[in-house]
Amino acid sequence: MEQVSLGKGIYWVGVHDHQTDLFEGLWPVQEEGVSYNSYLISSQKTALIDLVKQPFAGSYLDALRGKVDLSRLEYVVLNHMEPDHTSALRDLVQTAPQVKILVSEKARSMVESYYGLQDSVQVVKDGEEISLGEHTLRFVYTPFVHWPETMMTYVPENEILFSCDAFGGFGAQDGIILDDQPEDLDWYLDEALRYFANIVSGVSKPVLNAINKLAGVPVKIVAPSHGLVWRKDPAKIIDLYAKWSGYSSQPAEKGITILCGSMYGSTAQLVKAVEDGIASTSVAFKTFDAARTHASYILPWLWKNRGVVVASPTYEGYLVPPIRNLLEIASHKRMFNKSAVYTGSFTWGGGARRDIESYVEQLKWNLAASYDYPGYPGEAHMEIGHRLGAELAKQVLQD
Ligand code: FEO
Repeated sequence: MEQVSLGKGIYWVGVHDHQTDLFEGLWPVQEEGVSYNSYLISSQKTALIDLVKQPFAGSYLDALRGKVDLSRLEYVVLNHMEPDHTSALRDLVQTAPQVKILVSEKARSMVESYYGLQDSVQVVKDGEEISLGEHTLRFVYTPFVHWPETMMTYVPENEILFSCDAFGGFGAQDGIILDDQPEDLDWYLDEALRYFANIVSGVSKPVLNAINKLAGVPVKIVAPSHGLVWRKDPAKIIDLYAKWSGYSSQPAEKGITILCGSMYGSTAQLVKAVEDGIASTSVAFKTFDAARTHASYILPWLWKNRGVVVASPTYEGYLVPPIRNLLEIASHKRMFNKSAVYTGSFTWGGGARRDIESYVEQLKWNLAASYDYPGYPGEAHMEIGHRLGAELAKQVLQD
């Protein structure tokens, strides 16, 4: 494990995970990797900020032993209880039974229910400070970023913010810890948006609350619990998170995401006409085969684009299951404020149109047009498809 200095006495001591196939058991990360960023503060007293996932506990603790006498470790701060950051806690406590576990009030019962620990838990209040000697830990409650117990830890001497899930991202490449290291920073930014859309988007308002709460706090380094540590340009990730979170209450970017499910090619054929219609304008679009693309990769586009085309034939009286699944997730993640059109084929009774109408109601989307047709599309249908695309694009430009 690498240990990267972030300033006098402060080290990144995290883990890059290329073993886990699905983050949270849901989101693919094996190819891209994910980091569990843990930090060591070595002052007169020593403290760890957040831990790593349990399968890495052995190598994590071995590496820590090379850096610090764990029998003298004073504190471990658990900013957030989700097990990607805390499941190595039992291993740590076995190795360092004297360690005090610093958590927010709401996390106290979670430490007990997850790890059966009570006596070593010390609750810290919002705004409370604990001195380590040369460094001070200041705790900032940031509820629901990502769970209700979540807080951040700020070290004023170094102006470093340990922000846990906030400002995090997927993606972990060997040897890359800091934002000035990647040759392709855009890849990390794309992975940060995927992480945001997959994990954080549903708590956008609490993210904005946290950003507002921290306004005026000088931050030289943003040290989240996943993804890059932002030392060269900490404002970049804060601004991006503010922008992305804002899409929960304001129209997003002027682009269109096309969600396509097609059984025998009829709906996919009409989507070509819709694409041509959009392409006749200046609006960019991205089309996904919903049955063959994991939702993890579609959600970032759905989040950042203000326009949506839902294209699905009727399947047993409803939209096809992969499209329904996407719309369910979009609803849970509060992906509101979109302009949408629906199109798709049917054979006899239809039903997908009724289904989309019920989804757009819960999603609070403006369904600008809805058009279904029997069998394969003819020339007249394709003309209508072209018009649907062009008119949605115009709508997106006006929103
Ligand atoms: Fe990275 Fe919500 O845990």
